[in-house]
Amino acid sequence: MDELLQLERHDKVARIRINRESALNALTPEMLADLRRMLGELDLDGDVRAVVLAGQPKAFSVGADIKGRVAEYEAGALRDPLGVIIRELFAYIESMSKPVIAALAGYVLGGGLELALACDLRIADRTAKFGFPEANVGSLPGAGGTQRLPRLVGPGRAMSLMFSGERIGADQALQWGLVEKVVEQGELDEASLAWAAAMAKRAPLSIAAIKQCVYVAESTDLASGLAFEAQSHAILRKSRDREEGMRAFVEKREPQFTGQ
Ligand code: CAA
Repeated sequence: MDELLQLERHDKVARIRINRESALNALTPEMLADLRRMLGELDLDGDVRAVVLAGQPKAFSVGADIKGRVAEYEAGALRDPLGVIIRELFAYIESMSKPVIAALAGYVLGGGLELALACDLRIADRTAKFGFPEANVGSLPGAGGTQRLPRLVGPGRAMSLMFSGERIGADQALQWGLVEKVVEQGELDEASLAWAAAMAKRAPLSIAAIKQCVYVAESTDLASGLAFEAQSHAILRKSRDREEGMRAFVEKREPQFTGQ
């Protein structure tokens, strides 16, 4: 169990746990490339209907591996391997057909917070501490943080967090809309799996289409978004799962969805 990313299956839910406790789950290019590969495999796996991305009790992740960044300076590197991989990974999470839920405890900082923001949903326990310390190290939240955070919490709150480097706790994050749920310490693993399992019971094509429609809503005008939604609805109407869902309701039984 020494791998930096540990994969577990819980029925139709897959959980990936970042496992680099000694460096508070600081992110390296290799780790992010592995995460991208793992998510690609899970998205193609018909037995998996939802993914939970978790960390360690002390840290979900403290962001980019600063020691690795310093080593890049020393090597005179002009390229930014972490930057390239992290942006591609985050765009990929958005394009996946399945819900990806970030389960957050301890430090959720910098690129770690950006990773959480790139997931579809966020659940935290009361130990979670959120912040963007990039301005302390002459950087900026450059993996989507300056774009995704204001969309969730508004520009004022986003800038206050990014300018000051201050951290906020789970309750404040919930109040701001940075996370969708907060649970007590010790309840995160079970609660995040239960939340994912509830989604895994729903029709997979519905989930995929809803996810796409919601992301389109963030980047387009209302008329174009409504047209996209209408098209998605027309496609879903032809799915077997739609007929199964409606028949199951009328026959008072659980639907058996196949994702077709
Ligand atoms: N990269 C590499 N190693 C890190 C790290 C990081 N971002 N953050 C912590 N560590 C390492 C520490 O060096 C330490 O290792 P050693 O024992 O070998 O020295 C170990 O993790 C434990 O850390 P601390 O002793 O510092 O633990 P603490 O509890 O006293 O403090 C902390 C915790 C407040 C999170 C502090 O470690 C900290 O401020 N870390 C830096 C966080 C940060 O600046 N993140 C932003 C990175 S930039 C980014 O993410 C940009 C992007 O867009 C991708």
